[in-house]
Amino acid sequence: MRGLWQFPTNLLARNRERSEALDSSAPKTIRPITNTPMRKPVIAGNWKMYKTVGDSVATALSLKPLVANANHCEVVIAPVFTALKSVADRLEGSNIKIAGQDCAPVAEEGAQTGEVAAFQLRDAGATYVIIGHSERRQFHGETDPVIRQKVEAALASGLQVILCVGESLEQRHRGIEVQVVASQLRGGLGGLTASDLDRIIVAYEPIWAIGTGTAATPEQAQEMHGLIRRAFAEKISEAGADQLRILYGGSVKADNIKSLMSGPDIDGVLVGGASLSAESFAQIVNYKE
Ligand code: PGA
Repeated sequence: MRGLWQFPTNLLARNRERSEALDSSAPKTIRPITNTPMRKPVIAGNWKMYKTVGDSVATALSLKPLVANANHCEVVIAPVFTALKSVADRLEGSNIKIAGQDCAPVAEEGAQTGEVAAFQLRDAGATYVIIGHSERRQFHGETDPVIRQKVEAALASGLQVILCVGESLEQRHRGIEVQVVASQLRGGLGGLTASDLDRIIVAYEPIWAIGTGTAATPEQAQEMHGLIRRAFAEKISEAGADQLRILYGGSVKADNIKSLMSGPDIDGVLVGGASLSAESFAQIVNYKE
């Protein structure tokens, strides 16, 4: 029996062929824009460990009027924990939603020095939480089993999860990027039911594109997003997969957002560096104008 989240082998073969084709100088083609209206794009800014409380509030307040007319997408920002409540309070009634950047792997309060539980993020005003960012995996030793516990804790607390997956440059060079992503999905989501998965957003963030200035090409991003959606279709249902929002992250800027969003399976972006300034993040949010 095919394992959970295992990509079908014919898709793997096609991926390999496509990857080779993408490396050649052959003209690159992508499918036309067919973003399903049912999947409202999410444009999320991850502020990482930047900004004081004052800077965070100031950036949020500058952003508010700049994205006030953005009805085509959900706008989300993820400030540092200490600024979360102040930012959320100042954005109340606006169209900007708040995400935590991580949460504890347990849902209940308790003796866990240094941790912040998902319900505490909610209490502070968050409706989303980013889980399994590659910086957590790389620099804080987060493994798939821990990530799965965090996903479960977040869902139990009523948060929506943005689960990050993505391969390293070395893994892409070895041609195992699809297997790596499949294994991260299996590891992070394997135990969940179809109804839990309604509150999951997947963010494909190739590590080699994060903070490097070299984004994945729209073709590379679309290819992986398409494979992720197929895996959900096989595991859950076509309808469930149709609803799943899959974000791309890694060096998204105002000048590449439009081409990235043209991929039919690209349902938004997770932005790091370019989300730190209200003006540059607003340009990304308002990419359609
Ligand atoms: P970047 O970061 O936009 O600075 O590449 C993306 C991320 O880490 O989510």
